[in-house]
Amino acid sequence: MQIQHDISLKSYNTFGIDVKAKHFVSIRKFDDLKEVLSLKDYPNKFILGGGSNMLLTKDVEDLVVHINLKGIEVLTENDSHVTLKVYSGENWHEFVLWCLAHNYGGIENLSLIPGNIGTAPIQNIGAYGVELKDVFVSCEAIDLRSNTIQQLSKSDCQFGYRDSIFKRKEKGKFVITSVALRLTKTNHNLHTEYGDINSELQNMNIDHPTIQEISKAVVAIRQRKLPDPKEIGNSGSFFKNPILSKKQFDTLKQSFPEIPSYPISDDSIKIPAGWLIEKAGFKGKTFENYGVHKKQALVLVNYSDAKGADILKLAHLIQKTIKRIFNVTIETEVNII
Ligand code: EPU
Repeated sequence: MQIQHDISLKSYNTFGIDVKAKHFVSIRKFDDLKEVLSLKDYPNKFILGGGSNMLLTKDVEDLVVHINLKGIEVLTENDSHVTLKVYSGENWHEFVLWCLAHNYGGIENLSLIPGNIGTAPIQNIGAYGVELKDVFVSCEAIDLRSNTIQQLSKSDCQFGYRDSIFKRKEKGKFVITSVALRLTKTNHNLHTEYGDINSELQNMNIDHPTIQEISKAVVAIRQRKLPDPKEIGNSGSFFKNPILSKKQFDTLKQSFPEIPSYPISDDSIKIPAGWLIEKAGFKGKTFENYGVHKKQALVLVNYSDAKGADILKLAHLIQKTIKRIFNVTIETEVNII
């Protein structure tokens, strides 16, 4: 374990923003993590996982602790289910592929989501009708206040749409070190109704898909719509889809009858922020070296060496414009640092 100084974080965030970490350490061993967290010389730590859900707008003064713990263990197993313990530093999509190779089902719809296992519970990653919470059992995390290991159950985590206790009450208080997930071995519970999955499977001439085929369909859809962070810097959806009350939605629908919507409950309706942003004229807009992705308006992109602060200014402009045109507030999904 070695603390380095003045390290560029460009390759550690999927937006590809070139800011510096004043102090940086990459952690591969659990004991090193405990040691580093107790270092008095660096009272403030900045925990970095896959860097896939953040916009860095300035150099980081705190000690950046890059969580690189690896490993997958079987906790319990019977004929129908397996519960796996996966260490935080494992790459999410590589883990999905590993599960598919073992024919473990439950996360095939979450194929190709960037980032690591350890950050998945923080925002309860989700796509195509499935969320992490659907397979989540518990996670282990170090409580930074006491430097002790805690186990948090699913209900402790209070998952919501792109939300958990780690984004609210316990923000910055825990370092997640591993996550336990319960997956199916047979009789997989398939979700193909959402979005374009069914039509993609039809194009592939598949009537009774396997979990591997569903993953292939999801990968194809995502590759068509979403920019690959290895080619164009981005953090996936920059904003959350807003959830409106029925009254607010009805008012909006009077002015915009064609607005797509997804009922959540009797009195709440989710609307696609991508639609609002496109309607407001931002889709595909480019400002020097950054802009709004041309195929999915919910994604902001860094084409070369954009500054995080410039992308943030664009995000604020989009939020203000959406508020003015639609009277709807859209919140960022990405953490602004
Ligand atoms: N839409 C537009 N223009 C756009 C984008 C979307 O009009 O530029 C409208 C269309 O009506 C489309 C609808 O929005 O049918 C939904 O679009 P899409 O299926 O692409 O999904 P999304 O709501 O924009 C969410 C997630 C994505 C996830 C997809 C698929 C959020 C914030 N985003 O996007 O997650 O992959 O659904 O399930 O909930 C991410 O979190 O980084 C992410 C990519």
